[in-house]
Amino acid sequence: MPHAETFRASADAYDRLVGRYGEPLAAGLIGFAGVGPGMRALDVGCGPGALTAALARRLRPARVSAADPSEPFVEACRVRVPGVEVVRASAEALPFADATFDAALAQLVVNFLPDAEAGVREMARVTRPGGVMAACVWDYSSGMTVLRAFWDAAHEVDPQRSADADEGHMHWCGEGELPELWRAAGLTGVRAGSLDVRAAYADFEDLWSPFTTGVAPSGAFCASLDPERRSALHDALQRRLGAGDGPFELTARAWTAAGRVG
Ligand SMILES: C[S@@+](CC[C@H](N)C(=O)[O-])C[C@H]1O[C@@H](n2cnc3c(N)ncnc32)[C@H](O)[C@@H]1O
Repeated sequence: MPHAETFRASADAYDRLVGRYGEPLAAGLIGFAGVGPGMRALDVGCGPGALTAALARRLRPARVSAADPSEPFVEACRVRVPGVEVVRASAEALPFADATFDAALAQLVVNFLPDAEAGVREMARVTRPGGVMAACVWDYSSGMTVLRAFWDAAHEVDPQRSADADEGHMHWCGEGELPELWRAAGLTGVRAGSLDVRAAYADFEDLWSPFTTGVAPSGAFCASLDPERRSALHDALQRRLGAGDGPFELTARAWTAAGRVG
C-alpha cells in the first residue's frame, strides 16, 4: 500500500500513534517560521489538525485554511477547528489562487507526497512574494524514538518486508534534505533547523495499541503481520524501549526548513 494511503484512517488512532507529539511540534514550527498575528496561513497535509488548531489560536480561525486528501482527517479537522476552511486536496493541486497566503506550512507531510517537488511548487504558488514557507519531517533514522525503535524491532521479526517499509528510507528525511528541496524550489534565505519534542504514555500498551489499528506506514506494517509475528514485534519493541506497566515519556526530533517565496 502506498504510504499516503495509510492515512485514510481514524483520527483517534492517529492521535494515539504520533498525534500526541503534534501540539508541541506545531508550536515549534510556527515559531521557527515566524508566523504572527495579521498573517493569513495555509496548513498543507493538515491531518486531524494539530498545526491547524495552533495556527487558528495564533491568527484567528478566519485567517487559516487547511488541506488534506484524507477524508476522515479532513472531517476531524473541520470538527476540531471550527471556523477554519478545511478542503480535501493534495499538496500537488491546491485549490487556491496565486499569492493567497502570507505563510504556507506543512508538518510531517513532505516525505509522504507522491511528487514533493510539485507539492512545494504549489505551496510557493499560493504564497505571496516575500511570504514564508516552512515544513518539518521526522528524523526517522535516529531522533524519532518510537518510530526508530518500531522499525528496528520490525527488522528483527520480518527483515525482508520491513526493509522496504522502514520510513527511515524515505526521501527528504535526512538532515539537510528538506532545506535542499526548498533551495531547489527557488526559495530564498533558506534556514535549516530541528525541533525536539516529547510525548507521554500511560504504559507500554498505550504506545502499542494504535500500531495494531493499521494507521500510518508503521501501523499498516504491524496490521499486516500474522499473529505470531505481531506478538514478536510487540515484545521486541517493548524490550527496545524498556517500557512496562508504568508511565513514561519519549522524545522525538524533526528536521525543519523555512524560506521566503521570491
Ligand atoms: C504524518 S501525517 C501529518 C498530519 C498533520 N500535519 C500532523 O502534523 O499531525 C501526514 C499527512 O499527510 C497527508 N498527505 C498524504 N499525501 C498527501 C498529499 N499528496 N498532499 C497533502 N497531504 C498529503 C496525509 O493524509 C496525512 O494527513
